[in-house]
Amino acid sequence: MLSTNYIWNTNILSQMNIRERVISQIKEKKSIDVSEFINICLNSNHGYYSNKNPIGKQKDFITAPEISQMFGEILGSYIINYWEENIGGVFNLIELGPGKGTLINDILKVGNLNKKFIKLMNLTLIEKNYQLIDLQKSLIKNQNTYKPNWINDFHINNKYPSIIFSNEFFDCFPIKQFYKKEKWIEKYIEYNSVEDIFYFENKSTKDSYLINKLKKFNNYNVAEISLSREKYFNKICQFIKKNKGIIITIDYGYLEPINHFSLQTIYRHKKSHLFDNLGNQDITAFVDFGELINIAKENNLTIDTYCSQKDFLLINGLEPRKINLQRNKDNTMRQKLEKDFKRLTESSQMGEDFKVLIVSCL
Ligand SMILES: C[S@@+](CC[C@H](N)C(=O)[O-])C[C@H]1O[C@@H](n2cnc3c(N)ncnc32)[C@H](O)[C@@H]1O
Repeated sequence: MLSTNYIWNTNILSQMNIRERVISQIKEKKSIDVSEFINICLNSNHGYYSNKNPIGKQKDFITAPEISQMFGEILGSYIINYWEENIGGVFNLIELGPGKGTLINDILKVGNLNKKFIKLMNLTLIEKNYQLIDLQKSLIKNQNTYKPNWINDFHINNKYPSIIFSNEFFDCFPIKQFYKKEKWIEKYIEYNSVEDIFYFENKSTKDSYLINKLKKFNNYNVAEISLSREKYFNKICQFIKKNKGIIITIDYGYLEPINHFSLQTIYRHKKSHLFDNLGNQDITAFVDFGELINIAKENNLTIDTYCSQKDFLLINGLEPRKINLQRNKDNTMRQKLEKDFKRLTESSQMGEDFKVLIVSCL
């Protein structure tokens, strides 16, 4: 058994690595913008999404598939219906950021009811976290017979139609932050080596590309833009446009700007500060679904659905599924299913903040 001292030391070491990286980047450039800061914390070696398992009751956060199997079952039946009605042949099933593998595992349990679906499926899991890949491998290998393909970025070489889906994936992308004071000002981060602290600095935005992008926020006082998220989404839209299929994106976010910063840092289920626990805490921001819809439209894709998670789950049969699962169960289990159902659908919980965007090309 590891002593707590050892755990503390490894945490400090990994924090120092990320801290040193951030400091050296700042020293090199004088200052870095918020998205550069987040990118180092999340995506560099030893960064939060490179090698830690953050998902679970004892970790930093919990996601819908981890709350209940019903989430994956409803999404799974939607996917299989879509495949039966629109594809019917060989296809790619692609999950972006599968976490512990729970969602794909529940989807495959539903998929296993249709032998043809499973036989004609090329399963690809896009994940860059090696600890999570190990978890995904053990979960999927234990229950199913086909061979998934793991890659760490979106490079699909075949031309089959694809069903691409993700839950809480696009909120992981770094964002730039702006506020308006007559003109748009971008938040930057600098480092005071005497006091050994990070602090925010402001720079007026001169880049014409950004100024153009900020136009849609002109009636608002603040803006968040994720260039890497937009680039990624554009890439999968282009792929779908070329090879046909569907993209199902579930995440928390908004259609119209919300006029407040949504950047959130979470350490062990508690809110923290961006400058704390470097490399050891979750950093997320609301997804600008309005922008994703624009990108899909620019790629001539059809917007099939944009709705709340609550509506998506209820329209696609969550309530009858819950009642079915409750049958012949003891009181404790029935109550748990009821509680999970509420967590997924109630407005005060995940029901309204989480949105479902489905875009397609037939
Ligand atoms: C918030 S977790 C969600 C996990 C899972 N979808 C769920 O709902 O439980 C984000 C997942 O995306 C992965 N991830 C984040 N950014 C990624 C990227 N750029 N490429 C591949 N995977 C990424 C993380 O490692 C993690 O598996």
